[in-house]
Amino acid sequence: MKAQLVSESVYCLHADVCTSDLFEGIWPIPKGVSLNAYIVKGEKIALIDLVRDWTGAPRQFQDCLSSLGLSFSQIDYLILNHLEPDHTGWLREFREQNPHAEILATQKGCNLLKSFYRIEDGLCPVKDGDTLDLGGGRVLNFFETPNIHWPETMVTWDAASGTLFPCDAFGSFGALGERVFDDEFNESEHAVFEEECLRYYANIVSSFSTFVEKAVQKLNGLAIKCIAPSHGMVWRRDPPKIIDRYLKYASWAKGPAEKHIAVIWGSMYGNTEAGVQAVIRGIEKEGVPYTSRRVPDENISWVLADAYRSSALVLAMPTYEYAMFPPMSYVLDMFRRKHLYGKKVLRIGSWGWVGGAKKDYEAAIESLKWESLESCEWPGCPSEADLQTLEKRGQELARMVKGL
Ligand code: FEO
Repeated sequence: MKAQLVSESVYCLHADVCTSDLFEGIWPIPKGVSLNAYIVKGEKIALIDLVRDWTGAPRQFQDCLSSLGLSFSQIDYLILNHLEPDHTGWLREFREQNPHAEILATQKGCNLLKSFYRIEDGLCPVKDGDTLDLGGGRVLNFFETPNIHWPETMVTWDAASGTLFPCDAFGSFGALGERVFDDEFNESEHAVFEEECLRYYANIVSSFSTFVEKAVQKLNGLAIKCIAPSHGMVWRRDPPKIIDRYLKYASWAKGPAEKHIAVIWGSMYGNTEAGVQAVIRGIEKEGVPYTSRRVPDENISWVLADAYRSSALVLAMPTYEYAMFPPMSYVLDMFRRKHLYGKKVLRIGSWGWVGGAKKDYEAAIESLKWESLESCEWPGCPSEADLQTLEKRGQELARMVKGL
């Protein structure tokens, strides 16, 4: 793989990770993920962000560097915008090849370098507004943007080329292949990446949506010509597109989101499933788009993405041992962690000899500020009257979404 020229003296190194491993040990990446880093050359050479030793990624970086006639040992400064190990895991090996490079990170980042890698020498803490003069008229600026995605995060700005290096921010799942720039992908490829971008945001970034808004506000005065994140494509043709997309996603954390309903359900013996089908008939009568995902069969990554993009949810679960069906407890725990606020929600479910899911559910959603329709429960198999009520509830929810 060759390094890609981003702008004069700015190059993208990228490694595609295509694996059945889970990202962060949680999230599947069937379309892969790219790990990007950047070379900025003045009289001195800076490398912005690094890589983890994951499916040969360091070798891919080395190939990119070789295409520029460089090696890791020639790097003068290693800038670490974010310390999560997908961008730093190979640091000890880098250090062995290059013991002299100065490592720049925020003070919190330097603290993590000590705890994660036991590296204490050659560190240069930087703070908001600090600069690094590479010589030859190339000066890099640093802006602290905490919590995108960890508290130590910063972005690097190259005013000469108008390039912003934001690491996780404005990133996406999805391997890139030989192309890295937004203008190299066609419309249908962009549509696939947009889905992967939403899933990445819902899975990784959504808890920090207020920080996304703050960061965009803080960087507002920069004349950005290119956004070069450390996951996903480099936005040189249309950087506002990815900024606007992130702002839209951030706004969804407070609701409302798209005019879409996510139906998320679990069923033990088909009785809750029969209720779900009745609710779906009601939604279909109103013509509101929806997705239906059964848990635990479907992975939480897609369940979260569907729920995050939707203004309304149907949550269907039987009572299991006096409480919620356990896979739905996990879903709700994730919804709390990922700040799925402001949804309109219908909860339904069947119970056997006694209920319990309702009480358990109501305690679980207390912090989520949802607007809940009257929930609908029934013993065993739903009666004709139950099915009619469920269908009407589905219509009611769909009308609420249409009215947004
Ligand atoms: Fe790509 Fe938060 O690491």
